[in-house]
Amino acid sequence: MDNEADVFYRELPKVELHAHLNGSVSFQTIEKLIHSKPQLNIEHSMTAIGKGQRRTLDECFQVFKVIHQLVDSEDDIFMVATDVIKEFAADGVKYLELRSTPREEITTGLTKRRYIETVIQAIQQCKKKGVDIDVRFLVAIDRRNGSQVAMETVQLVEEFFLSSDGLVIGIDLSGDPTVGHGRDLLSALQRAKNSGLKLSLHLSEVPSQHDETDLLLNIPPDRIGHGTFLHPEMGGSQGLVDKVVQKSIPLELCLTSNVKGQTVQCYSDHHFKYWYQMGHPVVICTDDKGVFATDLSHEYKMAATTFGLSREAVWKLSQQAIDYIFAPDSVKELLKQKWRDLQPQEFK
Ligand code: IMP
Ligand code: ZN
Repeated sequence: MDNEADVFYRELPKVELHAHLNGSVSFQTIEKLIHSKPQLNIEHSMTAIGKGQRRTLDECFQVFKVIHQLVDSEDDIFMVATDVIKEFAADGVKYLELRSTPREEITTGLTKRRYIETVIQAIQQCKKKGVDIDVRFLVAIDRRNGSQVAMETVQLVEEFFLSSDGLVIGIDLSGDPTVGHGRDLLSALQRAKNSGLKLSLHLSEVPSQHDETDLLLNIPPDRIGHGTFLHPEMGGSQGLVDKVVQKSIPLELCLTSNVKGQTVQCYSDHHFKYWYQMGHPVVICTDDKGVFATDLSHEYKMAATTFGLSREAVWKLSQQAIDYIFAPDSVKELLKQKWRDLQPQEFK
């Protein structure tokens, strides 16, 4: 049974800006995939990290490999994207930026182009069916694949940027942060920026990435994913913090992901506190709601209970996230109107 607080957080209109498609696949959708591919012998314990469990970051990336085995055809991608979009909508998310790394699979004939087209089709289908959520797509570059793949990805995304009617709006840089170096990806990312694509970069997700972060901040990105080790208390530096503050780059913060992936020791140690208290733009996100067994309502609730936020402050936090979306101002205005319509009288 949902208690009153759960209802409040679910009904709170929310913006989700950091959600990896294959990390967001729910238990129910994984169940369907497991059934359709029994020969893989995959179990639920291999695709999600349950309550109270934790994994090293390396183990988390093994989990993505297992999910990729289950999601390897156009049909799978269409189903997964459709389910994920509907689940976010059911959780009260009104605007979603979904990110995903295009893959090719020789055995199923999947190409990177078809991968992107299929995600777009799923978004369009949900819209046609009246699912109450505005969805955009950020195409991801996996840092492990190096400079050439990064450049090819940007070139492909430029085509969709022009032809997808505003659905493909940006690039994400993600993947195992311990592999590869941002300097190899700099020219691809700069090209994307010059083409008008928005950039969200995973930065300082692990310690000792000072030089890479400093370099990539010069582009500059439009948003930062995690930024866990940017600030001096976490081994970062005041110089990095100053750059982020001066350029006013919003941070996408994913509490449960960081705790379960063990880059943050516990919820109360999360860097949300540092940036939020400073008044810097932050957005609460899920990262991988399937893998980390969470949803956006739960993330808001955890932030509120851990850091003592009032309901009014929570409302403000979800409303301010509208300012940091990548869609144009006309979309921001529509969302702001939606928030005004839904806002309880006592917070007006
Ligand atoms: P996909 O891009 O839809 O296949 O989603 C899974 C992929 O997202 C993983 O293989 C990683 O490349 C990326 N990813 C998911 N979570 C994280 C994270 O916390 N840090 C860096 N990359 C991530
Ligand atoms: Zn991420």
